[in-house]
Amino acid sequence: MVRLIIDTDPGVDDAFALTLAARSPEVDLLAVTTVFGNVGLAATTRNALRVLALCGREDVPVGAGAARPLVYPQPFEAKAVHGEDGLSGRAGFLPPHARGAEVEDAVTLLARVLDESPEPVTVAPIGPLTNIALLLAAHPHLKQKIDRLVIMGGGLRGGNSTPAAEFNLWCDPEAARRVLVEEDVPAVLVPIDLTYRCAVDGTWLTRLRESGPLGEELEALTTVYRAHYNQSLGFDGTVLHDAVAVAEAISPGILTTTRVPIHVDTSFGQGRGSVIADRRLTAAEDEPGFRPVDIALETDLDGLREFILDGLR
Ligand code: BDR
Ligand code: CA
Repeated sequence: MVRLIIDTDPGVDDAFALTLAARSPEVDLLAVTTVFGNVGLAATTRNALRVLALCGREDVPVGAGAARPLVYPQPFEAKAVHGEDGLSGRAGFLPPHARGAEVEDAVTLLARVLDESPEPVTVAPIGPLTNIALLLAAHPHLKQKIDRLVIMGGGLRGGNSTPAAEFNLWCDPEAARRVLVEEDVPAVLVPIDLTYRCAVDGTWLTRLRESGPLGEELEALTTVYRAHYNQSLGFDGTVLHDAVAVAEAISPGILTTTRVPIHVDTSFGQGRGSVIADRRLTAAEDEPGFRPVDIALETDLDGLREFILDGLR
């Protein structure tokens, strides 16, 4: 049984990732915390609550966290990708959560759950890293309660928000640098280099839709999102970035990782929010400003797509 916390900004692919974890018999989902990102915090929190209600998991504690980046406010939001409400216009059609919008503070919830856990917990941040940076800054002793962070973010060969930066890291580069480079919590980074290769096609989405009412609703959530990928990639399907990371959190080893020293660029040039990976043959594990992180770069692509589909049906 994997003891798991998800920190998220739903987001269509976040909704898939949450569903995967919420319905897995292999997972003890201890908490879900929300952060600004794809849409604003009020909307990401509502969406997380409603996705949990859709999954019949109103028992899972939910905490709302950061509404903005740690240091520098900057434009964010991906409404063009995920829709005005973050869920392709479907948020209002999902079942309301029994607790309404009543949630506690994310960092307080994260700290309590980690503190009370008898065993280390896997934490899967699939949005900007602000809540996790705040947690590590405020409760450094709880690092030992984190088994590993499985983080969706970054791109070794360029970004999707800017030419250099991937969305989750670009939203809060200072937080990303703190979590990925300056702390020593074991981390797996699942970058867009891999998640784009795990894209699912129209046939996969039809199989999901035909699997039953839950599959039908999940497929409906992809309308705006799918159109975006259709337009940008010229491909009739979609990219479930966050579900790829949560698959690794649930089933350790489903992704193949390589240890690479990385740095997160917090400068204000064109590289802001990007990952600088030291892939020199002579790369030293103790290069100043860099930390070795396990980066997921390979998987059995069809096997992973089936794993996700099975988990959602
Ligand atoms: C990441 O950005 C968000 O739009 C997605 O939810 C995912 O977490 C991909 O770059
Ligand atoms: Ca996300």
